[in-house]
Amino acid sequence: MKDQAAKLRSIVNKLNNTDITSDNKETIVPERAVANRRNARVITVTSGKGGVGKTNITINLAIKISQLGLKVIVIDADLGLSNVDIVLGKTPNFNLSDVINNRRNIHEIIEEGPGGVKFISGGSGLQDLIKINKEQLAHLLIELGRLDEEADIIFIDTGAGISDQVLSFVYAAKEVIVITTPEPTAITDAYALIKVIAQKDKSKKISLLLNKADNPTEASNTLDKLYQVCLKFLGISIDKLGFVCNDANIPKAVKLQQPFVITFEKSAAALDISSIAKSLICIEDRKIEYGYGIRLFVNKLKWFFK
Ligand SMILES: Nc1ncnc2c1ncn2[C@@H]1O[C@H](COP(=O)(O)OP(=O)(O)O)[C@@H](O)[C@H]1O
Ligand SMILES: [Mg+2]
Repeated sequence: MKDQAAKLRSIVNKLNNTDITSDNKETIVPERAVANRRNARVITVTSGKGGVGKTNITINLAIKISQLGLKVIVIDADLGLSNVDIVLGKTPNFNLSDVINNRRNIHEIIEEGPGGVKFISGGSGLQDLIKINKEQLAHLLIELGRLDEEADIIFIDTGAGISDQVLSFVYAAKEVIVITTPEPTAITDAYALIKVIAQKDKSKKISLLLNKADNPTEASNTLDKLYQVCLKFLGISIDKLGFVCNDANIPKAVKLQQPFVITFEKSAAALDISSIAKSLICIEDRKIEYGYGIRLFVNKLKWFFK
C-alpha cells in the first residue's frame, strides 16, 4: 500500500512540474503506477439534479487520469438516459446483459474510447441484476472481478436523484462524487442527496464537485457553504474536490462527440479537470483506502437491488 502511494506521489510530483496539456505527454506518462495492486477503486459519480454534467465530467476526468498513467474504466450506469457512448462518439456493441447471459465475456464488452479510456455499457444488464439467479451472479462476479486487473479506477456514471436504483450504486461504492452546479435548485438537490447518503452510511467518502462555475470565488464560496451545512446539520465532513468552470467548449465538444480534454485541451475546463484528476489520485494525502474492488461493489449492488 505504501509502495503504491509513493508511486502515485511521484507521478503527481512529476506532473506538478510539467504541462500536461502540452504535446509532451510521452515524457510524463509513467509506467503503470500500481502494478502490484489487485483491486480497483470504484467511484460512483452522481447528482441530485439532472443535467449538471456528470457524464461529461466523468469521461473527461477518466481520460485525464488515463493520461496520468493509470488504467481507467467508465461503466455507464444511467439506466434511463445512458449517453457515455454518445459523448465519446462510440457505439457499444454489447453490454453487461451479454455477460450475465453468457453471450460474451467481460473483455468482449469493453469498448476502447479516445485517450486510452475504456468503457462498458450497463444497458439492461444492470436492471437484470434484480432477477439473476445464483449461478448467473457467480458468473458475473467472476467476469467483473477481472476488471480489478484491468483497471486502477472504475467510474460508475449514474443517473440523477434519489431513486433506489441510483442510490444502490452510491451505497455499493466506497467513494462517491456528487456533482452540482451553482444553481440553488441543484445545490438543494445535492444537499438532499448527501443527506440520504449520510443517513445510510456516515463513513462514505463523499466528494463534492462544482460544475459550470462562473468564477473561482463563486465556486469556492459555494463549496464552502455546502461543506459547512453538511458538517453542521449532518455531522459529516465532505471533501471539496474542486470545480469546473462554465465553458462553451464543453457543449461544442459534445456536438462534435469528442471529449473536451482532447479536442480543447487548453480550454479552461480542461485545465480544471487536470487539477481535479491530480487531486483524485493523490490517495495518501486524501486518506482514501485504495483497492476496494469491483467484486465487493457488485455483491453489495445485488444486495441493494434486492
Ligand atoms: N462546465 C460546463 N460548461 C458548460 N456546459 C457544460 C459544462 N458541463 C456540462 N455542460 C453541458 O451540460 C449538459 C449536460 O451535461 P451531461 O454531462 O450530459 O450531464 P448529466 O450527465 O449530469 O446529465 C451538456 O449539454 C453539456 O454540454
Ligand atoms: Mg449523464
